[in-house]
Amino acid sequence: MRISVIGCGYLGAVHAASMAKLGHDVVGIDVDPARVETLARGIAPFFEPGLSELLVEARDRLRFSVDMGAVRDADLHFIAVGTPQQPDSNAADLRYVEAAIDGLLPHLSAGDLVVGKSTVPVGTAARLAERVATTGARLAWNPEFLREGFAINDTLSPDRLVYGIAPGDEAAVTVLDEVYAGAIKGGTPRIVTDYATAELVKVAANAFLATKISFINAMAEIAEATGADVTQLADAIGHDPRIGRRFLNAGLGFGGGCLPKDIRGFMARAEELGVDQALSFLSEVDAINLRRRSRMVDLTRESVGGSLEGKNIAVFGLAFKPDSDDVRDSPALDVAMHLLDEGAHVVATDPKAIETARSKCPGLDYAPDAATAARDADAIVVVTEWAQYKTLDPHGLAPLVAARVIIDGRNCLDPAVWRAAGWHYRALGRP
Ligand code: UGA
Repeated sequence: MRISVIGCGYLGAVHAASMAKLGHDVVGIDVDPARVETLARGIAPFFEPGLSELLVEARDRLRFSVDMGAVRDADLHFIAVGTPQQPDSNAADLRYVEAAIDGLLPHLSAGDLVVGKSTVPVGTAARLAERVATTGARLAWNPEFLREGFAINDTLSPDRLVYGIAPGDEAAVTVLDEVYAGAIKGGTPRIVTDYATAELVKVAANAFLATKISFINAMAEIAEATGADVTQLADAIGHDPRIGRRFLNAGLGFGGGCLPKDIRGFMARAEELGVDQALSFLSEVDAINLRRRSRMVDLTRESVGGSLEGKNIAVFGLAFKPDSDDVRDSPALDVAMHLLDEGAHVVATDPKAIETARSKCPGLDYAPDAATAARDADAIVVVTEWAQYKTLDPHGLAPLVAARVIIDGRNCLDPAVWRAAGWHYRALGRP
């Protein structure tokens, strides 16, 4: 099939490359010339395992352009632009979606199918469908559930496919079935719904995941008040298959470009619809999540004697999660900045996210690796659970630091091992 993908960020670049891998002819459109040029050279503009390789592998069927006119050869157009939080409210900012549709409309032909993948407030698709219909084209909404770090696999082998279509638009189902023929053949469940349900599936899924994480972090708060161990608690309740152990890792909580802004956008939309009470629990989910960041700063302050002023703090991790260089709403970066605000001398490191963090927070000192960051530290804080931090050797680090103090913000270290090596070990939600 001939496909265009509008927006080549974390979602669109992966989608474009994956569609080309599936054998479709793809053009990716982005407003950023530097990004387009990088992608066209077969280089991923952000860290995503396997993406650069895929760009090279699929290069014969994949091109990128800043010119929206390049979509003219395609008859299927995916909208994959970002929907960030508005700066002054909880609501999603739809300006990039609107701009994508504005740009696309003059190039659409009768019979084309426009497919929204961006996460949007419920009701958006119905509104956009009217605009698309003026050209004789049609709209479907096909939310994306990929996780950064696993994006290619999640795109090629999704857990499920959801198609939100206009009433009776069976032709859209046929087109999308052709796009995803491989996954469907492999048994991926496919659910066909109306627009509103498809839009809601996406935000409901992210709201559920955020709630699960904040639930276990609320238990961490109780554990801290009682001397209990939240990691053992999570293991024990997670054995109940109705609960499940995944997404029950207590620690610094969720961040990134999706979960935080999606629960806020969902609440804002519910308020507009007059059903804000239905989602008032999400404001508590958000508050629990943000309290973990303050608790991490409190623990660090306590562990260095009550004041951070002038203390050397090594921060291990900047990305919002491992295997990513994404620092959007990163709990790790937030903690680093708070430590700095309290007068600490912060040296931060991350295997992949130093450059993205530096462009956002130039005031931090950055070190290329853990050993360099740890030099003369009064405390080490572990805030992203990269594999290389989980396997740190407490004996190897000991001679480098000023004091053997480690605060585990992701419950990813073995307290017994660190304490046996003479370290003062503290963590969120466990003694
Ligand atoms: C999330 C969803 O998992 C995807 O399904 C969805 O498609 C995506 O948002 C999106 O809307 O585009 P992602 O943001 O890549 O994906 O990251 P997750 O793996 O969900 O992690 C989110 C945050 O939760 C991270 O900061 C992670 O450290 C934190 N987390 C995760 C925990 O604190 N505890 C856990 O047990 C799991």
